[in-house]
Amino acid sequence: MMMPRMFVARKLPDDVLAPLRALGEVVVWPEERVPVPPDVLRAEAARADALLTLITDTVDRALLSDAPRLRVVANMAVGYNNIDVAEAHARGVIVTNTPDVLTETTADLVFALILAAARRLPQAERALRAGQWSGWAPFDFAGRDVYGKRLGIFGMGRIGQAVARRAKGFAMDIIYHNRRRRPKEIEDALGATYVDWETLLGTSDILVVLVPYAPVLHHVIDAAALAMMKDGAILIAVSRGGIVDEAALYAALASGKLYAAGLDVYEREPIAPDHPLLSLDNVVLLPHIGSATVETRLAMARRAVQNIAAVLTGQAPLDPVEVP
Ligand code: GLV
Repeated sequence: MMMPRMFVARKLPDDVLAPLRALGEVVVWPEERVPVPPDVLRAEAARADALLTLITDTVDRALLSDAPRLRVVANMAVGYNNIDVAEAHARGVIVTNTPDVLTETTADLVFALILAAARRLPQAERALRAGQWSGWAPFDFAGRDVYGKRLGIFGMGRIGQAVARRAKGFAMDIIYHNRRRRPKEIEDALGATYVDWETLLGTSDILVVLVPYAPVLHHVIDAAALAMMKDGAILIAVSRGGIVDEAALYAALASGKLYAAGLDVYEREPIAPDHPLLSLDNVVLLPHIGSATVETRLAMARRAVQNIAAVLTGQAPLDPVEVP
């Protein structure tokens, strides 16, 4: 049998990749901060048994149709909208992701964004650094309470549930909307109430968008949806760009319809240096760092490696992505 050949689309720590090296030939794109160019990825895929990809790598029909040996694409992410999963499955290629290992870390970041947006932390810190803190004043840097407010969660998956568990500690009134209503035991444990879309939009003080990207959800938070939101609400988006219409969000923030927003994901990443949202003070903009702790990024890389090793040794992968 031919030795398996694996392509790893980004430089990762050697010890993380060691289990793959024990299985066959491993080729690693040597850059840590620059994605592999699409033509290089395609050329490598054409002779690979396994790919370890990131969300910056597009695995589309063209790539898959020219990858006769490919058996597994292991994405180092929980999201996988960079991969044409239906096409992969049609060709017998297994796709895996890295759920669970990033759930709590990402929920922490959601809360960081909620607190940063509501309490205006970046604005306050920027002012202090700029020498604009003249001393304690009653309403300087005054934000909005998080404690006791109504939290709307759009997308009650693993991360949504981890956010709800945190929200309980903030005595928040938790409502959610999801494609499928969660079982009563889960709702009871979280203290979360299922509501329809209109109620979610119309009554949340803080609305967190956590649904994975799907074409049917493109711009589901558009101008009309934003208009339905409570005056002075806060919008947080942490799953994928494209769900929130950024032009409409800009208008809602500029007009004061929304009090603030916190974003970790964008329609185009990285965002352009002249992105209109950069001109607004009432939005916290993070560079897609939801799962970015050293512990969790290592766990994600290890999990992707384990998924490849499982498939190449004839075992079931740990995290197969089902047909969407
Ligand atoms: C990051 O965005 C992920 O999907 O893990």
